[in-house]
Order: sequence, then C-alpha cells, then structure tokens
Amino acid sequence: MNITFIGFGNVGAPLADHLQRLGHRVTLAARDPGSDAVRKAQARNPALKAVPPESAVREAEVVFLATPFAANAQIVPPLAEALAGKVLVDCTNPVGPGLSHGLNSTQSGSQALQALAPQAQVVKAFTIYGCENFEDSAYPGYGVKPAMFFCGGDAAAKATVAGLIEQLGWAPLDVGGLEQALHLEHMTLLWVRLVRVQGHSPNLVWAALTR
Ligand SMILES: NC(=O)c1ccc[n+]([C@@H]2O[C@H](COP(=O)([O-])OP(=O)(O)OC[C@H]3O[C@@H](n4cnc5c(N)ncnc54)[C@H](OP(=O)(O)O)[C@@H]3O)[C@@H](O)[C@H]2O)c1
Repeated sequence: MNITFIGFGNVGAPLADHLQRLGHRVTLAARDPGSDAVRKAQARNPALKAVPPESAVREAEVVFLATPFAANAQIVPPLAEALAGKVLVDCTNPVGPGLSHGLNSTQSGSQALQALAPQAQVVKAFTIYGCENFEDSAYPGYGVKPAMFFCGGDAAAKATVAGLIEQLGWAPLDVGGLEQALHLEHMTLLWVRLVRVQGHSPNLVWAALTR
C-alpha cells in the first residue's frame, strides 16, 4: 500500500518506520526535505523517501496526519484537493489549557479536520495512547493484544485502517462514526492525565475483553 505521513515526529516517525518495514511504500510528505524531522526519520529508516507534500498525498492511498492539531488549519486546506478520496488517518489531538479538550468539547478535532478536507475519508486512530506505545506495541504474556480504538464515517476506509492497526500489532476496535472521535479525544485526555500527571506507566494501554 502507498502511505504518506504529514508529520513524522514522536507519533509519525515510529509508525512510518514500522509500516515501511512491514512492506508498505511509505513516504514523508516533507515541506522541507532538509529539516531535522526528515533527517531523524531517515536516520532511523533510510527507505523513507521525502517527497513534496502535494505529490506525496497524490501518490498515496492512505495519508497519516501526525501534526500539532493547531497547525491543521494551515496544513490541510492547500492539500484538500489532493486528499479527495484518500483515507486520512487523523492521529492529532486537540488539547487545551490544563489538559482540557482543545475545542471545548463542542466538536471533535476529527470533525473539524473533516471540514478542512471534505472529500477525504477521515478515520481517527493512533491517538489514545502516548507515543511510547507506537514505538513498541508488544505486550507479551497477556494472551491478548492491546486495543486500538478507531472511528470514522466510511466503512471501506475503516477496513483499510483496521488492517494497518492489526499489522502493527494492535487489536482494532471500531467504535463507530466520526462523531465518536470526541469520546476518543476525551479518552486521550484521561490517558494523559493518568500517565503524564499521575505517574502511571507510559505503557498503560487498554484491552477489550468479551465473552
Ligand atoms: N506525543 C504523543 O505521545 C502523542 C500520542 C498520540 C497522539 N499525539 C498527537 O499526534 C500529533 C503529533 O504529536 P507528536 O508528539 O508526534 O508531535 P511532534 O513530535 O512535535 O511532531 C510533529 C510533526 O508535525 C510537523 N509539523 C509541525 N507543524 C507543521 C506545519 N505547519 N506543517 C507541516 N508539518 C508540521 C513537524 O515537523 P517539523 O519538525 O519540521 O516542525 C513534525 O514532523 C499531535 O496532534 C498530538 O496531539 C501525540
């Protein structure tokens, strides 16, 4: 699968690296091919080619957005046409002062993103845990894989993302349409408060048990 990453820092770089090693053709949608972020991502995995953002998006079937949420309003509109029909994996979280919801819980960041790229198929995923868990998703000894909750409005796009989630070592859990993204964003805030504030392990993840 052709995949590109807009944003390849703490979240994007490990996911790009793992997906390339799994056999996907993965590019870095790089506004500056000489940036530190490009250098670091390529030092980690030289197969990650830096491509100008618009070409990278046009060539991709799946586009990961792993940028600061506040930058999305600047980054996405110029790419909206190129994003038409693409699966857009929203890894971003709107975080406000005091670890509040960055849009005051009036709408989710993913719905705001969908408005910026109306013809993309937005799927929210890879947001509910800290990046430590994207470096290494193995939880040996439990007999159950950690759950990756995801949501979106398009069934085919969600099936594609579920496949990638599974390849990356997680148990995909489809929690519904894009309106559910607000609840995932609150889950993120819960995780951040538990781990970054209260001192729980950064390797704290959730698993889904059913019977
Ligand atoms: N860190 C976590 O544990 C974690 C976990 C889950 C989700 N998230 C969410 O994932 C997103 C990324 O977090 P991160 O920790 O990976 O951030 P990060 O390490 O700071 O990386 C951000 C990336 O976005 C790029 N970027 C920033 N402004 C840009 C712009 N205007 N145009 C194009 N690219 C731009 C940066 O490129 P340059 O380096 O060139 O500026 C960098 O590649 C955030 O929305 C965050 O809330 C974070």
